[in-house]
Amino acid sequence: MMNDLLLRALKGAPVERVPVWMMRQAGRYLPEYIALRNRYGFFERCQTPALACEITLQPVDIIGVDAAILFSDILVVPQAMGLEVQLIENKGPVLPDPIRNDKDLQRITVPDVQDRLHYVFDAIRLIKQELNGRVPLIGFAGAPWTLLCYMVQGKGSKTFDEAKAFCYTQPELAHRVLQMITDTTIGYLKEQIRAGADAVQLFDSWGGLLGPADFEHLSLQYMRQIVAAVKDEAPIVVFAKGAWHALGAMAATGAQGLGLDWCVPPEMARQLAGNKTTLQGNFDPAKLLSPIPVIQKEVKQMLHDFGRERYIANLGHGILPNVPVDHARAFVDTVKNYDFNKHD
Ligand code: CP3
Repeated sequence: MMNDLLLRALKGAPVERVPVWMMRQAGRYLPEYIALRNRYGFFERCQTPALACEITLQPVDIIGVDAAILFSDILVVPQAMGLEVQLIENKGPVLPDPIRNDKDLQRITVPDVQDRLHYVFDAIRLIKQELNGRVPLIGFAGAPWTLLCYMVQGKGSKTFDEAKAFCYTQPELAHRVLQMITDTTIGYLKEQIRAGADAVQLFDSWGGLLGPADFEHLSLQYMRQIVAAVKDEAPIVVFAKGAWHALGAMAATGAQGLGLDWCVPPEMARQLAGNKTTLQGNFDPAKLLSPIPVIQKEVKQMLHDFGRERYIANLGHGILPNVPVDHARAFVDTVKNYDFNKHD
């Protein structure tokens, strides 16, 4: 591997500089992505290894990030479990027949991932070949709680109240679904690693909708199983947006990395997580809409506050579609050019 900064940061090994990548970096702010989007459907892009490979490499070639992240989506897992998933332009994901009762559970299974998700592993093998050791490849999956949100609500939501009502009124069913997602995800991530993913990330985008006790029952106990099953095969990063209260408990899972959103101060995150975990984050994605000098100033402050060791620079959530490409590049370049010896 020519540039293994990300993998060294996840091990806690010394680095010459902080590695940087951006969540959702393969996506709609890039004109090269839009060109492909106009020609192929969303799941067609996910299921065609040559397209997934091309999109995965775009931010490496165009922006110069220190890691590639597989182009796919967290919703390919509910799809493989038996649910129909549509991606509707300007509306987001729609699952027309969501899970609401015990009868609906008969429509989902823990699938053979080799059979149902082989296109992901084919894409990973192709991407590894094309990357040719330039930067590591990150695989990923949605956390069980976040996937349940979509599988029950049937669409995006600010509150995911239907999903929560399902868990609060039919807890036994909810836990059965969560365990099925967990078992599928363990097999899925292990196969991603076997196909060549150098690290994996678990996205719990809606973890912050749960209070601390519910987060433990409905999210963390399942993520703990996934981390335990995967962490000795490849480093794993857990990103639970809004669940800063559980940073200590998430560090205790043994995950090599913890993703942070922009609402938690670096010093507080480090205090809660302890010194054995790498922190990743946490620039406000909307701040990339600021003038470039403001981006440069605030990124330097972020780097100063996190420090060089056990740290990966990233956004606090996915990049927004309306971010100008040169602003994304300014974010990445500022991290790459920052000299800790000069600024500390
Ligand atoms: O990070 C990357 O660049 C890799 C690709 C990736 C996508 N989705 C591609 C995508 C990753 C890692 C995801 C994860 C994902 N998908 C999450 C977790 C991360 C987060 O942002 O919270 C979630 C919640 C989803 C579900 C999902 N997929 C939503 C809500 C949407 C629509 C809204 C949106 O953000 O675009 C998608 C569609 C989607 N997934 C797009 C892309 C590039 C845009 C659709 C398109 O280009 O046609």
